Amino acid sequence: MNPTLLIVDDDEEIRTQMKWGLAQDYEIVQAFDRNSAIEKFRVHKPLVVLLDLGLPPHPNTPEEGLAALRELLEIDPKTKVVIASGQGERENTLQAVGSGAYDFLTKPVDMDELLLLLKRCFHVAQLEREFFEMKRQYNDDTFEGMLGTSKPIQAVFDSIRKVATSDAPVMILGDSGTGKEMAARAIHQRSARSAQPFVAINCSAIPEALLESELFGHEKGSFTGAHAQKKGKIEQATGGTLFLDEIGDVPLQVQVKLLRFLQEGYIERVGGNDMIQVNARVVAATNADLKKGMAEGTFREDFFYRLAVVEFNLPPLRDREGDIELIANALLQRFAKENNKPGLSLGSKTATAMIRHNWPGNVRELQNRLRRAVIMSEGKTISPDDMELSLASQAHVGKSLKEAREDLERQMVLDALRKHSNKITSAATELGISRPNFYELMKKLGINR
Ligand SMILES: Nc1ncnc2c1ncn2[C@@H]1O[C@H](COP(=O)(O)OP(=O)(O)OP(=O)(O)O)[C@@H](O)[C@H]1O
Ligand SMILES: [Mg+2]
Repeated sequence: MNPTLLIVDDDEEIRTQMKWGLAQDYEIVQAFDRNSAIEKFRVHKPLVVLLDLGLPPHPNTPEEGLAALRELLEIDPKTKVVIASGQGERENTLQAVGSGAYDFLTKPVDMDELLLLLKRCFHVAQLEREFFEMKRQYNDDTFEGMLGTSKPIQAVFDSIRKVATSDAPVMILGDSGTGKEMAARAIHQRSARSAQPFVAINCSAIPEALLESELFGHEKGSFTGAHAQKKGKIEQATGGTLFLDEIGDVPLQVQVKLLRFLQEGYIERVGGNDMIQVNARVVAATNADLKKGMAEGTFREDFFYRLAVVEFNLPPLRDREGDIELIANALLQRFAKENNKPGLSLGSKTATAMIRHNWPGNVRELQNRLRRAVIMSEGKTISPDDMELSLASQAHVGKSLKEAREDLERQMVLDALRKHSNKITSAATELGISRPNFYELMKKLGINR
């Protein structure tokens, strides 16, 4: 279908002449004054408008044309408006260009010139549209730097959006490398506290004896080595967000003090007597099983319920359909650039190997394998070997023969479907079985097209 062009001119003869010259390349829509122009514009959404400035009821002044120009651009600023003006209207034309018109022509219009100009306008308009579409998609893929379009990760983004507007403590659960710290930063970034500090403390990396003073600070001389007064992480997070990473490793007596801070909003430095009021939002994370900790008495229940007013789970990478490739491609761009190896891409077998891999270390593991692969790769594509991924799955260990057989069948059916864009006949041929048998197999394995 030809692209749509709106021609606005009060002179019917001119419109007819133009239509005659342009109808072969464009879908022509006509208007004779400002109101009809806007109406037609809204209905037909043309990328390009050819506009005469002298429109009724003031055909001898440019005001109606200029007003139409402004209105059109207000409806869609990307519209390319070309002004067709009479001789001696140079000043008006310049004014129109100053107001956002894309280009101009002088009447009487030379058809060849007009055709060339229109071609260029449509080309630019089309490119712009594609660019905005890409940008929109890109923005939808990332959330505060977190990539993912899969349902489970989008649900996490939704949770983050919701909790960001409140000050309630949040507990982020998830296996190692799933993005817990990134999620905590996203909560901070999206909150009204974003201009204030985000202070992270890894509770498992600090020796027990020092953790309390790290968190709460200390007064001078409160213990050997406390040469000066020091503010703790909690105070440093004033106005902002305190991120307690690996909260499962906090010893019981520090849990009690943190609980008091959560309940009352006050802290006491080690060796100090003053109660200091601190306004900091607490976000905690762990990959430990806190329920088990509570059952065994290493994690206080009251502390848990204070912390986990809101709780959400970062899903394992293997459960985020489509995200592995998305994240891998984004990281590949970055690492290729860092290592001066432009033009690297993932080989087709690599995508399959990645989907089959179990990713116990989640996004961090993907990052590490890719970083290494980019350094090791010799060609233009990253092979499964470069990533130290095997195409054969190790997943059968510990399974019954029946389970292992079904796993393999499922893999082969899915691979064949993917390879043949879900065409059953071709997929069945590839596996050397009949169409009905292929359907039966899909049914048995619970595979939908
Ligand atoms: N959705 C994602 N998109 C892009 N990068 C991600 C995503 N999730 C995590 N990452 C990256 O993966 C790495 C691990 O993320 P992060 O440190 O937030 O995970 P974690 O759950 O805190 O891990 P750990 O349990 O090891 O502390 C980081 O480098 C982070 O930038
Ligand atoms: Mg972490």
